[in-house]
Amino acid sequence: MPRCRSFTDRSSGSSTSGGPAPQTRNEIPASSPSFACNPAAGSSSLCSPGQWEPLIPALSTRYCTIILGGALFSSVASLEERGRSGYMNIVRSLLDALAIQPGESVLEVGCGSGVIMRELARRTAGANHLIGRDVNTYLLREARALARRAGLLDHIDFGEASGEALPLPDGAVDVALSSTVFEEGDADRMLAEIVRVTRLGGRIAIVVRAVDMPFWINLPLDSALKAKVDAPNVIGGGVAPNGVADASLYRRLAELGLTGLKCFPQLVPVVPGSERIERYQQQILAALTPAEAATWHRYVAAAERDGTFFIAQPYHCAIATKPG
Ligand SMILES: C[S@@+](CC[C@H](N)C(=O)[O-])C[C@H]1O[C@@H](n2cnc3c(N)ncnc32)[C@H](O)[C@@H]1O
Repeated sequence: MPRCRSFTDRSSGSSTSGGPAPQTRNEIPASSPSFACNPAAGSSSLCSPGQWEPLIPALSTRYCTIILGGALFSSVASLEERGRSGYMNIVRSLLDALAIQPGESVLEVGCGSGVIMRELARRTAGANHLIGRDVNTYLLREARALARRAGLLDHIDFGEASGEALPLPDGAVDVALSSTVFEEGDADRMLAEIVRVTRLGGRIAIVVRAVDMPFWINLPLDSALKAKVDAPNVIGGGVAPNGVADASLYRRLAELGLTGLKCFPQLVPVVPGSERIERYQQQILAALTPAEAATWHRYVAAAERDGTFFIAQPYHCAIATKPG
């Protein structure tokens, strides 16, 4: 549920209330100048939540500052929804293949809202040291709140760190994983770091979005329309200049000297009613002419009537061992 924290106007000498308060609304004194940072506004707002997060202490000294948060807002909602989808089949098969033993430490680089950390915490029930690291302090705060609400926070150490320069010694963890993060930064630096902090004989698992494979759009489109919607970069997110979002992931891992490399591309379907299928459709419609868009809507309506409409996103997944 959304959480609402308020910092009442310090210049008016009012008191401050804080901490997660599910399903609450805070009153703003009429005399307080107010400033709203709204993660729900997403890309239409001036800053993303991760960008305005560092500004909050300064804003709070002068303004009544209201912070909306929770699992229904912004990228948290999107990550949490993905964490209830077929994406978890990839996560669970990775975790199964990693065969994490009691007592082993596990690092997730780019833990986001904590979907994978919570799954790990449920599986390991306190028997392992779980370390979630991310650069985004907004997501880390939400990850802690979601884990606390699930009764799992005691088992997870969430903290701020970049995957490009992990503040961990060489060989610090038994198992390291990262999912849909290495697209967003310098992939070779992040790969070198995740290998460095894994102990000899430890296991590493990486998942990235696959921009070199088409999405599967489950509509019987005519060939011209299919070619248009299957064109590269019509659907999906961007990739940083040095990010990895293709099958070069497998080669890069082999070049780092990892052994027992298992490579398995996967498709994850999203279905009507999900935020992602709406987003993908908006991206597709932006690439179509009005006539093509009308045809698209007819195909979608027919497929929704018979319950066969879905769009599946491709991912590259790999597991390997650091030779000991
Ligand atoms: C798409 S989310 C994936 C979150 C999570 N792994 C999951 O599967 O739900 C990508 C995450 O990577 C984080 N990230 C991006 N660049 C990073 C970096 N250099 N170091 C650590 N985290 C990073 C983002 O802040 C975001 O939380």
